[in-house]
Amino acid sequence: MKRKVLVVFGTRPEAIKMVPVIYALKEASDAFEFATCVTAQHREMLDQVLELFGVTPDFDLNLMRANQSLEQITSLVIHGVGQVCAEYKPDVLLVHGDTTTTFAASLAAFYNRVPVGHVEAGLRTWNKSSPWPEEMNRCLTGALSSLHFAPTEQARQNLIKENVSEDRIDVTGNTVIDALLHIAQRIDGDARLTQKLESEFPSVDWSKRIVLVTGHRRENFGKFEGICKALEELAGRPDVEILYPVHLNPNVRIPVFKCLENVPGVHLCDPVEYLTFTFFMMKATLILTDSGGVQEEAPSLGKPVLVMRDKTERPEAIEKGTALLVGVEPDSILQAANRLLDDPDAYAAMAKAHNPFGDGRAAHRIITRLRNEESL
Ligand code: UD1
Ligand code: UDP
Repeated sequence: MKRKVLVVFGTRPEAIKMVPVIYALKEASDAFEFATCVTAQHREMLDQVLELFGVTPDFDLNLMRANQSLEQITSLVIHGVGQVCAEYKPDVLLVHGDTTTTFAASLAAFYNRVPVGHVEAGLRTWNKSSPWPEEMNRCLTGALSSLHFAPTEQARQNLIKENVSEDRIDVTGNTVIDALLHIAQRIDGDARLTQKLESEFPSVDWSKRIVLVTGHRRENFGKFEGICKALEELAGRPDVEILYPVHLNPNVRIPVFKCLENVPGVHLCDPVEYLTFTFFMMKATLILTDSGGVQEEAPSLGKPVLVMRDKTERPEAIEKGTALLVGVEPDSILQAANRLLDDPDAYAAMAKAHNPFGDGRAAHRIITRLRNEESL
């Protein structure tokens, strides 16, 4: 009999990283029946991904509310995913990463006695407050999970430290690299597509050095004004254009637009679809971000990343030298960015393409484990 898999996700990054698993499940239709359930913790930013990859969810809980609280998301997801579990009766439920959707869906699965498979398991900073609430979300999801798909060996070691049995862990690589390579191949060498993407942003001088910026972490709320100060000063350089697709969270959007909307050399826009963002990364000289996913993607593209955080659960890129933690103090951000833009040796040392997070086959490995798993 075919196993029934329920794939649950809710935000933009979970969607990007679950699409390869959905594609792989489709290809393995001899062994699996599956359904997708979106909580829609994000709405527009989620729909951009669903549309690009042609995914139509089987269940859509549609629960995003403006400026929603963590308690609100948690309770709505538990209730909604619980109902879907009762209706669909999956043999296994797959979640991704560390959002509130991830944790609450895992708890709902546990209450319904459905085993959980955790994709992107084992990332840790060992600090409950950073990133907040993601560190606890992934620890709690790990505690509820029966199968752990760790992207790297370090993630596997983190799980072993928490007494997860080794036979429950597979090192698969990160599915974000599956998605990235798929999209980057579409852009690479397609001059017409490149031209089209450039022409969609006519105010940007693409001949200059592009500094790409994103940011949204809750622990950075209240610090975006400082980050913007650094960006404003950086934009004063004649050789640089700053490209900043601004996250839809109002705690980010309001200060960023207030500080940077009219600054010459700074191009603010709404979140862009993944193909466009991949193009931005490919065009960028330098990336400034607090995003988890971008830290994983940039090394594959050989792009230096200044990580605007004090801690990262993705130390692999720091160890390999493509990423540098710079915190959120304006002086520290500015100094690090100027150094990379002014010192070709410092730049060359960071701008090396490598793949600490995966080889594009992560989803395939996840499906292979599910196929061979006898406990389901
Ligand atoms: C969430 C995740 C975070 C993840 C991030 C990826 C939690 C607690 N946070 O943070 O781990 O790294 O997504 O981006 O799980 N909004 C919209 N449209 C959208 C998306 C968001 O309007 O498509 C606005 C809404 O007002 C919403 C608010 O942003 O209430 C916050 O969204 P939420 O999912 O709670 O938090 P994020 O900061 O997006
Ligand atoms: N991304 C995107 N459009 C944008 C900005 C980012 O598609 O305008 C992608 C990016 O390539 C990465 C993911 O969204 O794959 C990261 O999402 P986010 O930073 O919101 O969340 P995090 O990874 O920090 O959880």
